[in-house]
Amino acid sequence: MLYAKEISKATLEVNGKTFQLPVYMGTEGEMALDIRNLRAQTGLITYDPGFGNTGACASNITYIDGEKGILRYRGYDIADLTEHCNFLEVAYLLVHGFLPNKEEYAAFSSMMNQHSMLHEDMRHFYNLFPEHAHPMAMLSAMVVTLSTFYPELEHSANEAIDSMVTRLLSKLRTIAAFAYKKMKGHPIVYPRPDLSYCDNFLNMLFYTPVNGYKPDPVITKALNQLLILQADHEQNCSSTVVKAVGSSDANLYASISAGICALWGPKHGGANQAVIEMLEDIQNNQHGDVIGALERAKSKEDPFRLMGFGHRVYKTYDPRAEIAKKICHKVLDYLGVNDPLLDIAQRLEAGALSDQYFQERHLYPNVDFYTGISYRAIGIPTNMFTVLFALGRLPGWIAQWLEMRDASEHRIYRPRQLYVGPKLHSVKAD
Ligand code: SDX
Repeated sequence: MLYAKEISKATLEVNGKTFQLPVYMGTEGEMALDIRNLRAQTGLITYDPGFGNTGACASNITYIDGEKGILRYRGYDIADLTEHCNFLEVAYLLVHGFLPNKEEYAAFSSMMNQHSMLHEDMRHFYNLFPEHAHPMAMLSAMVVTLSTFYPELEHSANEAIDSMVTRLLSKLRTIAAFAYKKMKGHPIVYPRPDLSYCDNFLNMLFYTPVNGYKPDPVITKALNQLLILQADHEQNCSSTVVKAVGSSDANLYASISAGICALWGPKHGGANQAVIEMLEDIQNNQHGDVIGALERAKSKEDPFRLMGFGHRVYKTYDPRAEIAKKICHKVLDYLGVNDPLLDIAQRLEAGALSDQYFQERHLYPNVDFYTGISYRAIGIPTNMFTVLFALGRLPGWIAQWLEMRDASEHRIYRPRQLYVGPKLHSVKAD
């Protein structure tokens, strides 16, 4: 049971009657009104499209303060983790609640290696995708297909956590790399037992029989950091989808496959691809006209939005965007890449942060604004950016899914609605 402390009661007056509702306080002083008995007590439901004011659960995993720009995984600040840990250590932290010691890390890494292959028959699925297939579609399809090759996973609730977690973490990386090779028309590259999580992924992406591939520690560190930035973000859209599917007691692979589809949307993880497409459009079709782009983003008549800007929770600079921006400069300087899109991005940021429209709405760069420019410099194609977001977010999805499954409050997700449709009428009368 995840406990939040009851600190007081709130009084609700409805139709001349008063009702007392418990008020809880979380670890960092945030407050919540317990409405679990609201309808039974008052006959009312709440109304909150988009759930902007609705707490779906109590959680031990991630803490965000949107006003102060704070993000912590299991109590560790995101800047601390990106500086001192690698992605696999953070994945372990998210799932278990503590950082691994040397022995725990060695065992976890060894299981990652054991689980890195796909069933050989799964390779043939890639031949059946059209060449223009988006890798997020391949990712979601291949993840839910895993449960058919490993029928014991239909009841993944019973599998030992580390085996379940490392199997999916490792196989998703292989699935993603194979999808990239499918798009390139190159022979697939198998995972190697002697490489780390990120080196293995980069090798499976970029190794070719004619050019080989030599891991670069600067690029490997940057990729570890970018994946850590994306590893969890409490009850975001895709994590909510993963938990909603899991709340019906569907297996972990069905839940993650659904989460991948939710992440794909340009309002969510798909924004990192949409940011680059926006910057390229400004450069190639708008003559670099940043002012014009900002005016379009502000216009109610224009559906154009400044991609990579704004956030449901952060009402100040997304702490991940600050770190992603530093990584971007470091990677481009190291590689000697002079990407005009970075200049456009920085001019857009400066223009927006000094514009009343964006200031009034507390619209700042989010995690997706700078990540894609780093991925481009590394040589990753734009349509793979959200795939990397999924690789990063996977440990967070799994941790949230496990927490939901093990919580004594665990119930199937089933919100209510306010019906405003037609009253009873009959076919004959019409
Ligand atoms: C992620 O939830 C998470 O934690 C997500 C995430 C994670 O790690 O899981 O952080 C990852 O998804 C980051 C967000 C990536 N998406 C984008 O960058 C797409 C562009 N951003 C917008 O679509 C928007 O800001 C959202 C979707 C991120 C948030 O939408 P909300 O909270 O529903 O806000 P809203 O649409 O109600 O906007 C409030 C106002 C509106 O103007 P008014 O009607 O008040 O006049 O702000 C405006 C909006 O029009 N607005 C924007 C804008 N974002 C909001 N105007 C121009 N450009 C934008 N990007």
